[in-house]
Amino acid sequence: MKRLVSTLAAASLLFAAAPALADDPPPPLPDNGLARTPPMGWNSWNRFGCNVDETLIKRMADAMVSSGMKDAGYDYVVIDDCWHGERDARGDIQPDPRRFPSGMKALGHYIHAKGLKFGIYSDAGLKTCAGRPGSRGYEYQDARQYAAWGVDYLKYDWCMAGTQDAPSSYYIMSAALQATGRDIVFSICEWGGSKPWLWGAGVGNLWRTTGDIYDAWEGVKGYSLGMLNILDKQAELHPYARPGHWNDPDMLEVGNGGMTTQEYRAHFSLWAMLAAPLIAGNDIGHMDADTKAILTNKEVIAIDQDPLGVQARRVSRQGDLEVWARPLKGGGRAVVLLNRGAAPAEVRVDWSMLDYPATLSGRVRDLWAGKDLGPRKGGYAAQVAPHGVVMVTVSP
Ligand code: GLA
Repeated sequence: MKRLVSTLAAASLLFAAAPALADDPPPPLPDNGLARTPPMGWNSWNRFGCNVDETLIKRMADAMVSSGMKDAGYDYVVIDDCWHGERDARGDIQPDPRRFPSGMKALGHYIHAKGLKFGIYSDAGLKTCAGRPGSRGYEYQDARQYAAWGVDYLKYDWCMAGTQDAPSSYYIMSAALQATGRDIVFSICEWGGSKPWLWGAGVGNLWRTTGDIYDAWEGVKGYSLGMLNILDKQAELHPYARPGHWNDPDMLEVGNGGMTTQEYRAHFSLWAMLAAPLIAGNDIGHMDADTKAILTNKEVIAIDQDPLGVQARRVSRQGDLEVWARPLKGGGRAVVLLNRGAAPAEVRVDWSMLDYPATLSGRVRDLWAGKDLGPRKGGYAAQVAPHGVVMVTVSP
């Protein structure tokens, strides 16, 4: 009898440990505890592309502090593609010695000394999108190297990945990062092809949901999408965002010159509504007053960083006029009235769209005007500029 019981116990253990089927997702990794609110920082790609070197990165770290961006909450300084040199005789990845002659450890020190964090970029395939060495087959070795350099954030791209399975490829690097024992935010950049919102939370802290953004209000250019085209692809993804794990509609274009101030204000407001990572992609060392005012609007940033971590839903859509809303900690709501059209228009939100009683008298505050508008019964309507937004909070 005793033997039968222990045989059964052994069999059930075996059964429990049966290998997963090939198309099962890998089991989730332990949560790394990072990015409880969406990460904020700066990344080199949108403005500088492959033209990165240590002088630029130091200048951007300096500017992060002197411009007030750091005080507004931005802390990650992320070098995107093209920092890489060759692997050395042991296979350890090295930076391009002409672009980064002082080495990555020294650069990490420089960034950390300013109270900022250091981010870097690699790729799950054989090569990065710009043809630099990828991490495939070197995941643990690269993770160890990044940790030795003091890296705090890894953006991990998806070029030259051939027939690789995306969840497994990202899982390997995530496990490698965790094995270093260093806190490293893991940014999955797979462009949405294998629906990373379904598996990303078990693997990383944020996941790109689309192809690349380009600096335009609307449009499609190959794999790249204008701001509104990306927005539309986020509308159904709100159930997947939560503290530690965010949909990533790509980096900001604010200040890069392709949109008007009105349009950039809309871009920034909508990204805040989406609980998107706020990663500036402009030259923060040379910002005009409008760009700086947008990127450092603390009330709008507070919506992005709301601790409840609930991504906005589109609660109304009538032609070019839309209302986006998200609940905030403490029972309030953030609301964006969006006018996609070319003529000014009135846009209205009814409190019933926000899951409030229709008869509620809600206190309204305009976040771009920085003004309390007082209690409003039933809802709020505002005149919205073409390609513009009005962004308010509502408190019951
Ligand atoms: C891909 C990514 C971009 C950027 C480039 C770099 O296109 O989606 O964000 O990192 O690669 O080559």
